[in-house]
Amino acid sequence: MPAAEPTPEILAAFEAAKGFMPAKEGLALYAAAADAAKLGLPLLEVGTYCGRSTILLADVARAAGTVAVTVDHHRGSEEQQPGWEYHDPTVVDPEVGVMDTLPTFRRTLRKAGLEDHVVAVVGRSPQVAAVWAGQLGFVFIDGGHTDEHAGADYEGWAPKVAPGGLLVIHDVFPDPADGGQAPYRVYLRALESGDFEEISVTDSLRVLRRRG
Ligand SMILES: C[S@@+](CC[C@H](N)C(=O)[O-])C[C@H]1O[C@@H](n2cnc3c(N)ncnc32)[C@H](O)[C@@H]1O
Repeated sequence: MPAAEPTPEILAAFEAAKGFMPAKEGLALYAAAADAAKLGLPLLEVGTYCGRSTILLADVARAAGTVAVTVDHHRGSEEQQPGWEYHDPTVVDPEVGVMDTLPTFRRTLRKAGLEDHVVAVVGRSPQVAAVWAGQLGFVFIDGGHTDEHAGADYEGWAPKVAPGGLLVIHDVFPDPADGGQAPYRVYLRALESGDFEEISVTDSLRVLRRRG
């Protein structure tokens, strides 16, 4: 069966949204989410930012009759802070002087007509994971890219992936010349655990399936 693909309208909304994911990886994310959604369980993302990848998960959730849950404190990762490479001054809240991507995210989802298919959780990923009891069909890790944060995302969320469900990790760069190594180390941990097998590689996006 051919991989599921977003409609031109959803792809256009994804491409118009602020964010970091290239279209090729977005298509792979969409296809993986559509595969995992067959389990009928929620799809979860760590790292909402302004909703670019969330659009894809929300559209899959809509079609499958499940929900996309997206977790972010909306204060930005290290590399998005003022003075760093990925800083965007338009997402700073002028009143408190710190980043706040939540308003942009909400506008993104509204414009894409996907608000009803997303539960947005504002908080730190490990704290949310600690109070999240249920199983998930899909976990997409695209939050903080330090060892501390990526490692905590893995430890908090990977155990909640149901058998047959998918764990997807973004920004996996085996060669340090291409990018930071924390997501790569998380990816290696997942494989070395024996709990997951790799099912696809698209640039820096790795899709793993929980055995069993
Ligand atoms: C790379 S961006 C996500 C990009 C997004 N998936 C996209 O497609 O555009 C990473 C996001 O993770 C969030 N983040 C970083 N560490 C976090 C943590 N410990 N808990 C919750 N959110 C976190 C940041 O606020 C930031 O918005």
